[in-house]
Amino acid sequence: MTDEIPKIEIIDKKNFSKIKNRKITRYLNLLLHPSQLLNKIFNKFYNSDKMKDRSSFDYKELYLQHGRNAVIDHRHPYDQFEYVTKKQKEILYPILKSQINEPITKILDFGCGIGRFSGDLAEMFDCNVMGVDTSKHLIDLCNNVKNVNYFVVDEKLNQIKDKFDLIFICNVINGIPDQKVFQLAEILSNLLNKSGKLFLVEITGKKNIENIWRTRTANKIIDFFPKIDLRHISQYIDIDNEVSIFFGQKIN
Ligand SMILES: C[S@@+](CC[C@H](N)C(=O)[O-])C[C@H]1O[C@@H](n2cnc3c(N)ncnc32)[C@H](O)[C@@H]1O
Repeated sequence: MTDEIPKIEIIDKKNFSKIKNRKITRYLNLLLHPSQLLNKIFNKFYNSDKMKDRSSFDYKELYLQHGRNAVIDHRHPYDQFEYVTKKQKEILYPILKSQINEPITKILDFGCGIGRFSGDLAEMFDCNVMGVDTSKHLIDLCNNVKNVNYFVVDEKLNQIKDKFDLIFICNVINGIPDQKVFQLAEILSNLLNKSGKLFLVEITGKKNIENIWRTRTANKIIDFFPKIDLRHISQYIDIDNEVSIFFGQKIN
């Protein structure tokens, strides 16, 4: 990790060529540092094969390796964790608030990790929040916050009996293979109340790239959710990734 890694920033669509420039700079940097290049090649072939078979990440392992950075792009230096979280909140919250015009009584923070957003969501809408995650290790790290309950769930979300007005998902599905996302999308859509809303934040790109962390096109992400009128409403850049924000209402 180096301080050369750019921080998260909002860039409007016209400036998206910045991503390309950053990628070129990183590739040049790799060519100038052969040991980093070899390390990258090793990780690409060895680790990606190891990881590709996994249905989802072992977040306990990731947390032990990267600490709290396990839930953000862990190329950020450790001391950028608070900054990245603050910046994400500054970007996401006004957009989320602008989309919600009706009272919200119950929110599902799906894949809540260490609960970075759950408490704020409860406060923002003065409602109850259920934070769920498949990683017991991460759920155990969530702080007790007013109006928030955290639960460990299985991949079919069998433990959830409630229905929600809003489901919030941030950087979860790009760690999950397509087939499982289709199943999850169906389950999550059924957990929404009539006219329930989905707010989804995910890495996107011009093409679909199957890797340890997947990049998917915005259209592919929208197609996972046929029961929700999901739209691409905004985007920002995190290091060299385009991160897209989607919002939609359940189709009745
Ligand atoms: C990159 S972290 C993001 C955590 C949190 N949303 C945040 O932004 O701080 C992805 C999270 O998704 C969780 N996750 C992965 N697959 C899941 C699944 N099928 N059901 C629930 N949570 C899942 C992981 O355990 C991890 O905590």
